[in-house]
Amino acid sequence: MISQPRMISATLFIVLFILPVYALAMDAAALYHERTCIACHGADGKQPVMDEYPKLAGQAEAYLLTQMKDIKSGYRTNAHSVAMKNVMHLVSDEEIAVLAKWLASLSE
Ligand code: HEC
Repeated sequence: MISQPRMISATLFIVLFILPVYALAMDAAALYHERTCIACHGADGKQPVMDEYPKLAGQAEAYLLTQMKDIKSGYRTNAHSVAMKNVMHLVSDEEIAVLAKWLASLSE
C-alpha cells in the first residue's frame, strides 16, 4: 500500500502542477474558438483559411506575443493584418499571453 505522506505528495503534485497546466490548455483552446481566431488560422493554428494567412502552431512564444500585440496596436500593418486587427479588441493582454503560450506548445 502507498504510504500516507507519499499519497499526500502525489495528490499535491497533481493539484499544484498537472491541473493548472490542463486548465491553461482548456482555457486557451476555448479562447481560440470564442475569439474567432479559428475562423482565419484554422484548427489549432495549423490550417489557415488562405495561403496568405500564417500558421501559428509551434512558433516561439515571444514571437507570437509580440506579433499579436503589434497587430492589436496597429504597429504591424499590411493588407492582411487589418482583418485580424478588427477582432483584437476581443482579447486582453492577459488572454494574448495565454494564447501565445498555448500556440507555442502545439506541434507544427
Ligand atoms: C479575420 C482573420 C483573422 C482572425 C479572426 C485572426 N487572425 Fe491572426 N492573423 C490574420 C492574418 C491575415 C495575419 C497575418 C497578417 C500579416 O500579413 O501581417 C495574422 C497574424 C497573426 C499572428 C502573427 C503570426 C506570424 O507568423 O507573424 C498571430 C500570432 C495571430 N495572427 C494570432 C491570432 C489569434 C490568437 C487570433 C484570435 C484572437 C487571431 N489571430 C485572429 C488573420 C486573422
